Amino acid sequence: MTNSESIDDVLCFDMYGTLCDTSTVTAALGEHLDVADGFVADVDALWRRTQLRYAQQVALMDDYAPFSEVTEQALDYTLNFYDLNPAEDARERIVAAYDELDPYPDAADALDRLGEEYTVAVLSNGNPEMLETMAENAGLADHLDAVVSAHEVRTFKPDPAVYRNAADRFDRELGGCRLVSSNPWDVAGASSAGMATAWVNRSREPAEEVGGDADLTVESLSALADAL
Ligand code: LAC
Repeated sequence: MTNSESIDDVLCFDMYGTLCDTSTVTAALGEHLDVADGFVADVDALWRRTQLRYAQQVALMDDYAPFSEVTEQALDYTLNFYDLNPAEDARERIVAAYDELDPYPDAADALDRLGEEYTVAVLSNGNPEMLETMAENAGLADHLDAVVSAHEVRTFKPDPAVYRNAADRFDRELGGCRLVSSNPWDVAGASSAGMATAWVNRSREPAEEVGGDADLTVESLSALADAL
């Protein structure tokens, strides 16, 4: 069941962790930080949690900064937290890894299959420069109809303004668009705002206890293309 009576014919894909695999960043941390493998996972997890927390904090404080800046600030916090001091060029390479993520192996094919019936777009917290570089590097640019960034409204998902702006961009009601994300907080936020949703739950995470429920849950992007 979707949130609205209207048929959703625009699919808005989250980028980081949904179309593209962030494990490239984990590999870069392992390569450029002189620490044990098990510890890399802790650094990676804190960086990711802080990136999300900072994005939400700056949105709440009405003190927007582009996602690329928030991402670097979250990295610096994490390095400080663990008392790590990589050389500047190692730090730069870790940051650069964010622009060089691999797409999930089924991403391009799923976008092509879905693109036959739906408008397929990215809806991401990433700023336009990051997203364009990423889509090109990951080879996804030619498989997408549009890229919509939270930067257009100077706030971040799950602020409803970001989902609303995407619907406006496609001249749809919120229920005429469906967010596709692997991030449970993103699904909960889009659903709460009134968008239809599909949760790509690859690692069988529990659903959020706040926000709306997913209208559809699948294990992969190709399973999404089968389901829709
Ligand atoms: C995105 C990140 C936050 O919006 O997953 O693409």
